[in-house]
Amino acid sequence: AGSGKFFVGGNWKCNGTKDSVSKLVSELNAATLENDVDVVVAPPFVYIDQVKNSLTERIEVSAQNVWIGKGGAYTGEISAEQLVDIGCQWVILGHSERRHIIGENDEFIGKKAAYALSKNVKVIACIGELLEEREAGKTFDVCFEQMKAFADNITNWADVVIAYEPVWAIGTGKVATPEQAQEVHAAVRDWLKTNVSPDVASSVRIIYGGSVNAGNCAELAKKEDIDGFLVGGASLKAPDFTTIINSVT
Ligand code: G3P
Repeated sequence: AGSGKFFVGGNWKCNGTKDSVSKLVSELNAATLENDVDVVVAPPFVYIDQVKNSLTERIEVSAQNVWIGKGGAYTGEISAEQLVDIGCQWVILGHSERRHIIGENDEFIGKKAAYALSKNVKVIACIGELLEEREAGKTFDVCFEQMKAFADNITNWADVVIAYEPVWAIGTGKVATPEQAQEVHAAVRDWLKTNVSPDVASSVRIIYGGSVNAGNCAELAKKEDIDGFLVGGASLKAPDFTTIINSVT
């Protein structure tokens, strides 16, 4: 972990029911969380209001997606204004599941980030390479190209957290080694220094996602450029998520 405040996000993805959400919220409300860590959870849209109304204010709430602009005739979409209306302060953008399963491209994701930030919705900006891209030695190229699409659209980096999530590590149980993650985080920071500014490079938090669990988080958290985690599966279990939040020492 670097000098910025450690940040742990729980991405619940398309999981849960009213009952399971209520149980998870009660357990999180009862958990003892390290003070010096920002904690955010991202429920599916339909449960955000329930979570906002029952979860301790110690934990902030994120959406998992948002529309690219102002609301209107966009069937099935949710606007940044609507997130603000229900007190949802964050949105995850560029997640690999939306890039690779739904087909969102860099430009679309970058524009979504710009619009969300313009409405004061903070952004967890995700990047990461596929296994074949890593094997072809293209990890940095892919991550830098995804970073460029964000950088072309973002002016206020204070409200952005970058999440490096190698696609081969997501939901596979194959976590990146602390060295593999550190290498990319340092490269992204360096890219920011050259392409955005030294200030942004040193202050922005770069968190790691991909099979983070209660057993592997502490080793990862020791790395200089790993400023937190974006957790999928393990964020659905309060004791594991709590261990991950408290992993920075
Ligand atoms: O956004 C978090 C994520 O994609 C990682 O998922 O289940 O591998 O922790 P998981």
